[in-house]
Amino acid sequence: MRLRRAARRFMTVLSLSWSLPGTAGAQGGTIDQRIDDLLSRMTLDEKVGQLVQYSGFTEDRAAAIREGRIGSLLNVVGAEHANRVQRIAVEESRLGIPLLFGLDVIHGYRTIFPIPLATASSWDPALVTSIEAIAAREARASGVHWTFAPMIDVARDPRWGRITEGAGEDPYLGAAMAAARVRGFQGDNVAAPDRILACLKHYVAYGAAVAGRDYNSVDLSERALREIYLPPYKAGVDAGAATLMSAFNLLNGVPATANTFTINRILRGEWGFDGFIVSDWNSIGELISHGYAADAREAARLAMEATIDMDMMGDVYAGQLADLVRANVVPEAAVDSSVRRVLRAKFSLGLFDNPYADPSTETAVILRDDHVAAARDAARKSMVLLKNEGGLLPLSRAVRSIALIGPLANDRDDLLGSWHAMGRAEDVVTVLAGVRGRAGGTTTVTHAPGATVTEMEREGFAQAVAIARNADVAIVVVGEREFETGEAASRASLDLPGVQQQLIEAVHATGTPVVAVLMSGRPFAIPWLAEHVPAILQAWHPGSQGGNAVADVLWGDFNPSGKLAVSFPRSVGQVPIYYNRDVTGRPPTAEKFTSKYLDLPNTPLFPFGHGLSYTTFEYGDLVLSGDTIAADGTISVSATVTNTGDVAGAEVVQLYIRDLVASVVRPVKELKGFTRVSLEPGERQTVQFTLGPRELGLYNQGMEWAVEPGVFRVWVGWSSEEGLEGSFIVRGP
Ligand code: BGC
Repeated sequence: MRLRRAARRFMTVLSLSWSLPGTAGAQGGTIDQRIDDLLSRMTLDEKVGQLVQYSGFTEDRAAAIREGRIGSLLNVVGAEHANRVQRIAVEESRLGIPLLFGLDVIHGYRTIFPIPLATASSWDPALVTSIEAIAAREARASGVHWTFAPMIDVARDPRWGRITEGAGEDPYLGAAMAAARVRGFQGDNVAAPDRILACLKHYVAYGAAVAGRDYNSVDLSERALREIYLPPYKAGVDAGAATLMSAFNLLNGVPATANTFTINRILRGEWGFDGFIVSDWNSIGELISHGYAADAREAARLAMEATIDMDMMGDVYAGQLADLVRANVVPEAAVDSSVRRVLRAKFSLGLFDNPYADPSTETAVILRDDHVAAARDAARKSMVLLKNEGGLLPLSRAVRSIALIGPLANDRDDLLGSWHAMGRAEDVVTVLAGVRGRAGGTTTVTHAPGATVTEMEREGFAQAVAIARNADVAIVVVGEREFETGEAASRASLDLPGVQQQLIEAVHATGTPVVAVLMSGRPFAIPWLAEHVPAILQAWHPGSQGGNAVADVLWGDFNPSGKLAVSFPRSVGQVPIYYNRDVTGRPPTAEKFTSKYLDLPNTPLFPFGHGLSYTTFEYGDLVLSGDTIAADGTISVSATVTNTGDVAGAEVVQLYIRDLVASVVRPVKELKGFTRVSLEPGERQTVQFTLGPRELGLYNQGMEWAVEPGVFRVWVGWSSEEGLEGSFIVRGP
């Protein structure tokens, strides 16, 4: 069998040297010429094969790869394993077209960084680019060519488990993070041995799932779609993202995976995106479950109409597409276009010339020292100091004994967060290890879990209370398990799970000052903690270096600078809650007939953009470059920020606007700029922002982008609720 294949290959070499398996398309000429050449030699079944993706490698799949019936596999990792599988495609298939290996590299490959919601809280696009570059380096060395990331779905609902994977509630911050992540994964040249293709997902509006229930439907105005949910995608496309994934959800009655309005018209038409689109896992098949397609044949046709180029784990294209072409239902030209897009991605990666990963590079780069150091740095830059009464943090030198309590204090797995690729618990530095390491010989650290994350058992309380009583400070690490976040992990309650709050109450009752460290993939509603616990650090799921990063912040070796990328509600009943809400005709007042709750204020517990530091910053000198501008003009807004405290620190300065009167009612505030400044004690810096048509416009009733005349208010501040305020006028024509 082997021999026969070898002989056949030899004959091919004699007759058509350029089609030698393993060197398919590897001749000179432009990529387009090479693609044309390949396409001209592909059978219809081989073309369809390029559009088919399965998860994992099995012997059955080996036969399909050999026959050119698979174009991509996900979840095939490890240089040697990936090479073994690749060899089948390159050396044993008729045309030798390499496979594309994809994986969910969401926040690191083996070195695990904080969850994306956390790194978005750094408000530091350069940091985010640098960690995605590390993720790309490790992944590519392990044979991965393509990540299903970044997930850039705007999410205003912390019940939705996948809020952990995105950049939170704001389109402007979300757009900055989307572009930063794409740049990090892809760099300038994805053919480089340390880069991978990015995939913007899940197109589109998946984050608006009704009631925060995963896979649920979405009903949105076109304006909300364009103003809130699309900007991160536009930014990702503009940053050069090679691919995009269609979502599971319905959007206004039409499944996202067959949505010709959002895909053909907006993405391909208005934005000119010509990368390839992969479905989400069986989302083409789910057109049938949705009641949008009668059967697989119709599902395939509808998905092809929406230019979904690759079928992830659906078996729909594999089973239907060739027949549909033969029956003249789907034009072969449409299949050719999809194949072209997939082949272009493979060419851009250099796979036709270098299809294999290098195992020695893999060994050299996985968990490289600088990667691990970057994970620690990213984790501490992602943490948000929510509250710090009486300057309890950083821990004072007088602290001689620490009671480290809580179910996540000595945990490894959960610090990794959801979708942690090849991250391993054994690589994780626990909070206990980080705190013990930092405490050194002079401060004693005792530990008791007190409870588990989810169970109602209070047996461990007594021990936790006992160690708290004998300590100068109690640090309580609580939150949620990693698998309670991410896909299929929606919650109806945002209270701390299990008896964790009761555990904190019991520890608090000892009178020992309490620091709460929250590890979660979403905001929890923690009004009791906010009222009673003096210091609260939102540490998210911080990744492999989480414990060291927590210690860095607790002792003030690192001064926290994170700011919330998502509002923290007082109660699940306020959800969805977000700062850029529309104005109502009856804003809340003491009057009965106004827009409010009977039992809670409308305001969040901690607003978007909030985050404390160990130093203080004073804002002053708000200066606008003019009082009025033309509709197509620009205005600059500047302010000074001074570090008025005793330690160096970084501040994220935020710029918000509001268009007071417009043909379409505008949100109460919209983020339109941000910048980080690092200041020594006493140091002052002037920050400057420019506002122009891109920032000041709106989608008018005709759905056109327009800057409308009138008064604009502008704030430069330290959260979405506080800042210096000014105003200017946009002149009419
Ligand atoms: C998720 C995607 C993911 C895919 C492959 C799906 O269930 O929705 O985000 O990329 O699985 O793992």
